[in-house]
Amino acid sequence: MNKKTWIVTGTSTGFGKSLATYLAQQDDVNLVATARNTEKLSYLNQYDHGQIAKITLDVTNQNDITTVINNAIARFKTIDVLVNNAGIGYFGTFEESNLADARYMFEVNVWGLVNMTRAALPYMRKQHQGTIVNFSSIGGLYSFPTLAFYHGTKYAVEGISESIAKETEKSNIKVLLIEPSGFRTDWAGRSSKKVLPEIDDYKQFADFIEDNANGAHHEAGDPQKAAEIIFDQVNNHFDKLPLRLPLGKFASDTAIDKYQHNLDEFKKVRDISISADQPEHK
Ligand SMILES: NC(=O)c1ccc[n+]([C@@H]2O[C@H](COP(=O)([O-])OP(=O)(O)OC[C@H]3O[C@@H](n4cnc5c(N)ncnc54)[C@H](OP(=O)(O)O)[C@@H]3O)[C@@H](O)[C@H]2O)c1
Repeated sequence: MNKKTWIVTGTSTGFGKSLATYLAQQDDVNLVATARNTEKLSYLNQYDHGQIAKITLDVTNQNDITTVINNAIARFKTIDVLVNNAGIGYFGTFEESNLADARYMFEVNVWGLVNMTRAALPYMRKQHQGTIVNFSSIGGLYSFPTLAFYHGTKYAVEGISESIAKETEKSNIKVLLIEPSGFRTDWAGRSSKKVLPEIDDYKQFADFIEDNANGAHHEAGDPQKAAEIIFDQVNNHFDKLPLRLPLGKFASDTAIDKYQHNLDEFKKVRDISISADQPEHK
């Protein structure tokens, strides 16, 4: 059997844990399960018959990244699927957010993903085959108040991923953006710092932050279903893999509404838009 090697970041909880659990039970998968603390990966022991490597990875640490990639190649020979799942959130109005925290979130959500991908791509190009699964969010397409910097990270992931997809198409490498709405993970709870508004003009948004915090682990989305969908798409539908995959009804509705709204707006301002070119280009 031709086994595929999957590397997944952030497998201690949430989507990463569900995906690792699912992958660990597939016959045709070698799994590189990574976490900042590999002691949190003992849930995989029951499935391990030599096809699972657990490796320490903080995605903000370049040495960890190099170690993961080198170990994956040394042990399993190929890197077929990289899942950039690790990510954190941050709730606070644009004016009141702590910029050091916002920068750190970019380090994890954007630069961590970038550095992992740059480390894996040379092997995928050499193999002339590979899939990069990047966790974006419906928040990579649509913005809510109090999440400006989180959206900044996920819109960045969207833009970067779209370019990678175009650059690697001829190398037979696909990119899949996962755009979930609310799923039952630790994201809205322990993985997202929250700054309640103190400026009167913004106090109206306190409820939104508190509702998200209190709603953690009661969201509509099921991470196990997400894991099954991601595996099925990558494993069985590689040739027709979409670039963008909203997950959850709210994500799908919101993505469709947002694109429809943008389309309507672009058409409304079309005359103004094209009037900006030099006359010879009209
Ligand atoms: N759940 C949702 O509703 C939702 C919706 C849209 C998008 N997402 C995205 O889904 C992805 C996974 O999050 P989740 O929902 O599964 O939340 P989660 O349960 O909080 O999982 C986040 C994972 O990321 C890991 N992580 C955090 N910082 C890291 C770092 N510096 N290096 C390596 N790993 C790190 C965490 O590890 P530790 O245990 O060490 O903290 C944990 O394994 C994120 O990219 C998130 O933005 C989630």
